[in-house]
Amino acid sequence: MAPSPKPIAIIAAVSVALCSLYVLTIKRRAATHSKGKTLTEKKPKRNGIVGAVGNTPLIRINSLSDATGCEIFGKTEFLNPGGSVKDRVAVKIIEEALESGQLSRGGVVTEGSAGSTAISLATVAPAYGCKCHVVIPDDAAIEKSQILEALGATVERVRPVSITHKDHYVNIARRRASEANKLALKHINQMDAKVVDCANGIETQHAVFSGEHKGGFFADQFENLANYRAHYEGTGPEIWEQTGGQLHAFIAAAGTGGTVAGVSRFLKEKDPRIKCFIVDPPGSGLFNKVTRGVMYTREEAEGKRLKNPFDTITEGIGINRLTENFKMAQLDGAFRGTDIEAVEMSRFLLKNDGLFVGSSSAMNCVGAMRVAKLLGPGHTIVTILCDSGMRHLSKFCNPEYLSQHGLTPTAKALEFLDRK
Ligand SMILES: Cc1ncc(COP(=O)(O)O)c(C=O)c1O
Repeated sequence: MAPSPKPIAIIAAVSVALCSLYVLTIKRRAATHSKGKTLTEKKPKRNGIVGAVGNTPLIRINSLSDATGCEIFGKTEFLNPGGSVKDRVAVKIIEEALESGQLSRGGVVTEGSAGSTAISLATVAPAYGCKCHVVIPDDAAIEKSQILEALGATVERVRPVSITHKDHYVNIARRRASEANKLALKHINQMDAKVVDCANGIETQHAVFSGEHKGGFFADQFENLANYRAHYEGTGPEIWEQTGGQLHAFIAAAGTGGTVAGVSRFLKEKDPRIKCFIVDPPGSGLFNKVTRGVMYTREEAEGKRLKNPFDTITEGIGINRLTENFKMAQLDGAFRGTDIEAVEMSRFLLKNDGLFVGSSSAMNCVGAMRVAKLLGPGHTIVTILCDSGMRHLSKFCNPEYLSQHGLTPTAKALEFLDRK
């Protein structure tokens, strides 16, 4: 009879085996985790309110999907803490400016914005110890400047003039940043003099920078490529992940062009077969730029512009110049959308899906329907739900205002699309 092994040896052998198994399992798990690490997990970790920006749900828009036989998804950007897609841009602009030293904590971020970007900047600026000054055209919905002031930003409402005019709201905002810088410099010089005068040495250089004036930084959402990068590094990768890379098309309207540029570039790098489009509101020159290479608007071509300066009820989208951000876009085509289609679409989504969205989101959904018609059933199309209808109570969601502009919605279903 073979001698039975000693109990101690058995225990030791079992322990070694268990330990090896444990180490192997941990390693395999770690390897699997790092291999399967998602694109969004690789992004820098942020906390506080800033950490709540992005990673918005991608929802199936049931009514439009069922009507077309496509899968139409909306990225619910209105769920960002500042209420719009522009939160991503505000965070990226401020973080890059702080990193480069162009903005200091305690400084003031200035922006010329018809609303959403300013609201996002005002929302996140305090998290970086900064202030916000906004110059806004006085035809933008009044609730936007009310929100800005409630958020603690200072607001200047100015007459809308051409971008070539020195008093265009964007040019005023740029000027305000340099005025803030001059003020800061003056303040520093005065304080420096004080330091020199200060015999007891208590007043240090540190006290100079803890004063009121820390300079200004012009956010410049139209030309600052941090805008494009916010979408290239955030919105694009999220859409790719949320669809498992199984999408055929992306469409959105452009204001600065940051969203379409960042998302289209990212998606095309992942899969060049993904088609990317813009939908362009009345009064914007982008449709012609994309389809014919020339930036002009139908309104200008038809000589309507001088008779009627009112081009579109939509806010934040459409433009008549080529921005640095838009130049980064990789587009396959463009569609036109009308105001009445945007209004009708917003009411259709509210009635059928419980989606209460603003004018640009409604226009984006009009665009998604154009793409569905072009590609046919069986395709997956993604668009952006930029902000909520709550931002648009005085105009886009105001029956009286709509009636004054001949935009009262009457459709029962989707018959309003492509109506001449
Ligand atoms: C509500 C809203 N939707 C859409 C856009 C357009 O996005 P982008 O500037 O990225 O082209 C804007 C831009 O200001 C906006 O304010």
